[in-house]
Amino acid sequence: MSLNTTSLNTTSLNTASLATPPLSPLTNPTHERFGCLSPLSWREGRLHVLDQLALPTTTRFYEVSTWREAAWTIKSMAVRGAPAIGITAAYGLALAAQEFAHTTPHVGAHAEHEAFVAWMCEAAEGLYNTRPTAVNLSWALKRLQPLWEEERATHTIAEALLSEALAVHEEDIEMCKAMGAWGASLMTPNTKALTHCNTGALATGGYGTALGVMRAGWERGLLERVYADETRPYLQGARLTMWELMRDELPCSMLCDNMAAYMMQRGEIDSVWVGADRITAQGDTANKIGTYGLALIAHAHNIPFYVVAPTSTVDLTLSEGSEIPIERRPAREMTHVGATQIAPEGASVENPAFDVTPHRYITAIITEQGVAQRGEDGSYRQALTAHVKAR
Ligand code: MRU
Repeated sequence: MSLNTTSLNTTSLNTASLATPPLSPLTNPTHERFGCLSPLSWREGRLHVLDQLALPTTTRFYEVSTWREAAWTIKSMAVRGAPAIGITAAYGLALAAQEFAHTTPHVGAHAEHEAFVAWMCEAAEGLYNTRPTAVNLSWALKRLQPLWEEERATHTIAEALLSEALAVHEEDIEMCKAMGAWGASLMTPNTKALTHCNTGALATGGYGTALGVMRAGWERGLLERVYADETRPYLQGARLTMWELMRDELPCSMLCDNMAAYMMQRGEIDSVWVGADRITAQGDTANKIGTYGLALIAHAHNIPFYVVAPTSTVDLTLSEGSEIPIERRPAREMTHVGATQIAPEGASVENPAFDVTPHRYITAIITEQGVAQRGEDGSYRQALTAHVKAR
């Protein structure tokens, strides 16, 4: 039996088996991994996960020891951000292999391998079914899949899966640093940048995508200030981006989501830098809800609008933005801020978590391979295909 990869292209969200596990907070957490602030860290056979739901008031890590717990951290958004979701899924598969090796009695090489593959498929599908929009999730699962399909001793496969998960994590940080350098090469002196959601170390293996460009611009003396949208409804900008920028002492100010047009009109913002959850071949980009509106406002003010994402976020199987599955999140994320109710009991709400910015509003797409520009057909197809091939 093998994982049905076509199922990795569906949008189903069967999470009934992912009830909140009793995860225990760690008392002595590690913030650094591969030399960077990281939301994830592998320690002595366990995954340590920074609980982003508790930030900015509480810094708390969970110790994750099963693939179901890993899936829960993604589904609940204790871990979030497209690259971090993909890395967590890779570690989740390593945990699944470990669990099998610890709990399943030896039944002979061939039968054991069949049972192992069935177990790994269940884990991969469970992880896949957590969140539908970020393509980094299926990218990571597919990258690890050949490792568990080979008929080898289970403990050998478990070791191989772990080293691949660690490689996915480390490579993500390297890609972020490369994107930072490419992005900073587009920055002009005294840049007053607007960003949306959280695209920093917390959303990646470490360093960040669009926020990585802010770091690189700051290191090069080009950045005057980062403006962070609060990012309703889940406030990743207010809670996470501000926490991260202030922790690392970058000049930053928070804006409510409806302030961008005013700030651009007054010349107080001169460029917009966002991340992505999925970029189609022509360059249409799914990112946190509100991104499309920012692109339109930037266009109206003749301000550059940059998308910064690793090639693991590019989905060449899709052409049009309308093909990207958009996650709908629970109403409570809108009707409440933390524990405080802000809408009438029973209020009907729509909560799409992402929107799609058409490629024509994007000034350039920065990946770890360089700066992708629009081709003669007006799309990013040629440049993005070359970037993915060069990976
Ligand atoms: O719902 P989230 O918090 O996972 O959404 C995250 C975003 O939209 C980010 O901008 C995107 O994943 C890029 S992260 C480097």
